[in-house]
Amino acid sequence: MVTRLVDLRSDTVTKPSEAMRAAMADAEVDDAVLGDDPTAFRLEFQMAQIMGKEAALFVPSGTMGNLISVLTHCDIRGSEVILGDNSHIHIYENGGISTIGGVHARTVKNNKDGTMDINLIESAIRDPAGTLVYPTTRLICLENSQANCGGRCLSVEYTDRVGELAKNHGLKLHIDGARIFNASVALGVPVHRLVEAADSVSVCLSKGLGAPVGSVIVGSKSFIAKAKILRKTLGGGMRQVGILCAAALVAIQENVAKLVDDHRKAKMLAEGLCQIKGFQVDVDAVETNIIYVDIVEGSNITAEKLCKNLKQHGILAFPEGPLSIRLVLHYQISESDVQYTLSCIQTIAAGF
Ligand SMILES: Cc1ncc(COP(=O)(O)O)c(C=O)c1O
Repeated sequence: MVTRLVDLRSDTVTKPSEAMRAAMADAEVDDAVLGDDPTAFRLEFQMAQIMGKEAALFVPSGTMGNLISVLTHCDIRGSEVILGDNSHIHIYENGGISTIGGVHARTVKNNKDGTMDINLIESAIRDPAGTLVYPTTRLICLENSQANCGGRCLSVEYTDRVGELAKNHGLKLHIDGARIFNASVALGVPVHRLVEAADSVSVCLSKGLGAPVGSVIVGSKSFIAKAKILRKTLGGGMRQVGILCAAALVAIQENVAKLVDDHRKAKMLAEGLCQIKGFQVDVDAVETNIIYVDIVEGSNITAEKLCKNLKQHGILAFPEGPLSIRLVLHYQISESDVQYTLSCIQTIAAGF
């Protein structure tokens, strides 16, 4: 029986460290809905500073952070948002912006590197002269890093150009920054500079940063004041939330510096996989902690079978299609876990 567990399904699977659990046990708390929780206040203050924005708000999840942000910017019926066709908001958030918010989505193709062509974004902006028939464009959303494109990073130059475009057309810019710290570290650009052009950013604490629960949205004071009302509407106003914020403060303190290692290990895993017959990885595209692995056509195995086989070795991964799997690194995966994974895949491949 295998006792080793190497969980590569996502960076959401990390378990709170001892330091996080201790901070949670000691957290000073009060009612956050009433605005009285000192630990939530500390986290929000710190995150606003780090992100270079006026204010911040703790929310239960990245999905709620994006939903609140889009709905806050698009608070007039008939609003439209321009976003990537491969973006998390569009694909994996239950269409909440339309089902709950009545916001119409206009997608633009995401390129392999996670960008959308600026000219395509511009031509997707509705002509205000046509409001009799068109929805009204109010928002552009970017995602950085772009998860479904393999954790690719959007550069500061690109983000600035989209911000400029938004401004020129009187639109707002929201960034789904679930993994914005990964992008910042990989690009070597301070996170506040990377999001300078954005009116709002949703940042996940429970992905690469390793906190057990939560996200933070940041923006102007007036944006956050409106967002707070929507958080309550959606049932996201939680009470003694300082328990969770205490773990997040430890995560920010201890884990941002570890992201560079996650990226290095992801590269190591990607390079190792390329050496194994039957597998292909675009190593250059591995910029952060996400790897898409293709099984070469004609190999005698499917992604589903491979994942089942890996599970028998204690390695967990998600199939992404009939011949593709996704592996995600995080700070609780060691270099030895990477070597173990490679040797198990080598063994499995030998039996194809
Ligand atoms: C890019 C991106 N945005 C948003 C989310 C949503 O976060 P949550 O799972 O906390 O709702 C995820 C989750 O994996 C994500 O990868």
